Amino acid sequence: MTNEYEIKKQICEIGKRIYNKGMVASNDGNISVKLNDNEFLCTPTGVSKGFMTPEFICKVDANGKVLQANPGFKPSSEIKMHMRVYRERPDVNSVVHAHPLYATSFAIAGIPLTEPIMPEAVIALGCVPIAEYGTPSTEEIPDAVSKYLQHYDAVLLANHGALSFSDSLLNAYHKMESVEFYAQLLYQSKMLGGPKALSNDQVERLYEIRRQFGLKGKHPADLCPNAKAGKPSCHGCSGSCGGSSADADTIAAITKIVLEKLGK
Ligand code: 13P
Repeated sequence: MTNEYEIKKQICEIGKRIYNKGMVASNDGNISVKLNDNEFLCTPTGVSKGFMTPEFICKVDANGKVLQANPGFKPSSEIKMHMRVYRERPDVNSVVHAHPLYATSFAIAGIPLTEPIMPEAVIALGCVPIAEYGTPSTEEIPDAVSKYLQHYDAVLLANHGALSFSDSLLNAYHKMESVEFYAQLLYQSKMLGGPKALSNDQVERLYEIRRQFGLKGKHPADLCPNAKAGKPSCHGCSGSCGGSSADADTIAAITKIVLEKLGK
């Protein structure tokens, strides 16, 4: 198991990457890592994530309350959003929030990333929905994001940015990179006259590859009523191509109740 100081250094390294890649401006963005069920490391509020050292990193409990923070540092103002992801997705060990240019532009325009345009995005993400707008730092964003947590590993936040999560810090960061690259390609291809989307058959073959690789995390393809019935899954239906997303909503609601009963 990697020691805590090493993890703090890794958070600083990912902070540098999101800043240097233009995925955040100024003091934007935040990163967290789960150490165990009641200890989480997170970036502090109001600092540039591109210039952090391990001493900046704060430790919080499962409710986002400070366990340790050096003088002058307070946990991210978005810690509630991170904690909601950990509470409702026990498989997640890291959460990354950023404002990448293209992904955030789609989030501002209200256009989810649903067109199957390239294999890697289809395999890694499926499609990326937009969680309804919420005021930063309030429960509004966690509440808006919650609806998508059982089906996706990344969501856009309306008029705000993007959120990604995975079983490790590097994988959560890679999801963010994938979201931004997908958004960038979609934008550029729209400028070139519109993308030629992959066919349903081509998408289904990619989903089959994902299943064979046994990739971890949540993927909208797993929800598709067609796929559940052993038929080719569609793309971008958010699990509702069968005319209703009742299954998906029921699973999300049950997961929430069970976790609440467990006191998580
Ligand atoms: P923090 O610096 O408080 O983490 O906030 C940055 C941000 O991007 C809010 O959305």
